[in-house]
Amino acid sequence: MFGFFKKNKGPFSATLRPSGQTITVKGGSSENLLKAALDAGIKWPYSCRVGSCGTCKCKLASGQIKPLNDFSYVLSGEELDAGYILACQTMLKSDIEVEVETLDGANGVDLAKSRSLDGTITQVTPLTHDIVEVQIELDGNLDDYLAGQYADLALPGVVDRARSYSFSRAPSQGKPNQVSFFIRRVKNGKLTEWLHSADRVGERIVLDGPHGSFYLRDPSGPILLVAGGSGLAPIRALLQQIADEGRAIDTTLIFGARTQKDLYCLDDINSFASRSKGKFQFIPVLSVETNETGWPGAVGNCPDAITPDMLELENSHAYLCGPPIMIDAAVDRLKAIGLKDTQIFFDKFLDASSMPGGRA
Ligand SMILES: Cc1cc2nc3c(=O)[nH]c(=O)nc-3n(C[C@H](O)[C@H](O)[C@H](O)COP(=O)(O)OP(=O)(O)OC[C@H]3O[C@@H](n4cnc5c(N)ncnc54)[C@H](O)[C@@H]3O)c2cc1C
Ligand code: FES
Repeated sequence: MFGFFKKNKGPFSATLRPSGQTITVKGGSSENLLKAALDAGIKWPYSCRVGSCGTCKCKLASGQIKPLNDFSYVLSGEELDAGYILACQTMLKSDIEVEVETLDGANGVDLAKSRSLDGTITQVTPLTHDIVEVQIELDGNLDDYLAGQYADLALPGVVDRARSYSFSRAPSQGKPNQVSFFIRRVKNGKLTEWLHSADRVGERIVLDGPHGSFYLRDPSGPILLVAGGSGLAPIRALLQQIADEGRAIDTTLIFGARTQKDLYCLDDINSFASRSKGKFQFIPVLSVETNETGWPGAVGNCPDAITPDMLELENSHAYLCGPPIMIDAAVDRLKAIGLKDTQIFFDKFLDASSMPGGRA
């Protein structure tokens, strides 16, 4: 006699350790663990949401899951052996228990739930030959994002999926319905080629945000900021927040670019230098210039400019933003110096070419 068991299609429960919170996750491929947690108001750390950055990792203690993408793209062999998974790439096949360090406690801040708002592009200002600042006036207020976070911008009819962009201003710097972004032109990139190729003032967009867990923690030592290219956007927002709140934080900013004409926002950086209550050191690093081309400053790749004297091993935090290759090199360097994972925060500016499986 044959027994037929009905396959359990969910929904399933995920119990989080050590907090003990339990959330419900839809079965099948309709909902991943990260989305269910964020919808339930859990402050789960995340950045890319496409399985590329590793920020959402957690440890599976029990239960069965179905990975959407191969975790080994970002998790090490040791992490995989220890049971780590990526929440944004995890569907549930049973009830599970996971261990995750949520953003409550010492570094807890009020992370606003994301929402969708329509808006209009009101200004596009060139910052360099391939980076523009885009100002957007929203139809409603977005007054509770944090400096460092990002939003998804959708342009129906131009791109079929939204692209992520970091807010380039601290909320304290503008009206609650005004936001701005630094957007670099990417060769053959759908959204950025469209934006850079004609006057786009007056075009309508849809913004979804805020997103991400890249924001200023309470440091007990000096902080290091490393920005590459348009990665200066959230870093400028952090500098504005520090100055506007009058915080006495010793800060080193390393800004990586190709040539002298790729440096921008130097007035903002000077303004921070004069307003900062802590010590401030600015190190622009150019990868294509040489001292023979008349550049008197540092040359090479910006992660190589990180030195131990910029940091206090137990107390410092490092904030990194820019291309994935730069972030990976900077994280390696910081770890070699002795910083722990918990002291390093980053947003990788991934595009379709650097996501697992690509995304058109
Ligand atoms: C959290 C986050 C924050 C970000 N913040 C910023 C920011 O502040 N400023 C900024 O400039 N950028 C930022 N980015 C990058 C941004 O989201 C876009 O990816 C970037 O602007 C390119 O968009 P695009 O539509 O022009 O390019 P896309 O059309 O997405 O193409 C990008 C590149 O990938 C190639 N490509 C397209 N499809 C595939 C495929 N299937 N396989 C392989 N290659 C493919 C294209 O030819 C092109 O070279 C951020 C990214 C993330 C994840
Ligand atoms: S948020 Fe899951 S890997 Fe980036």
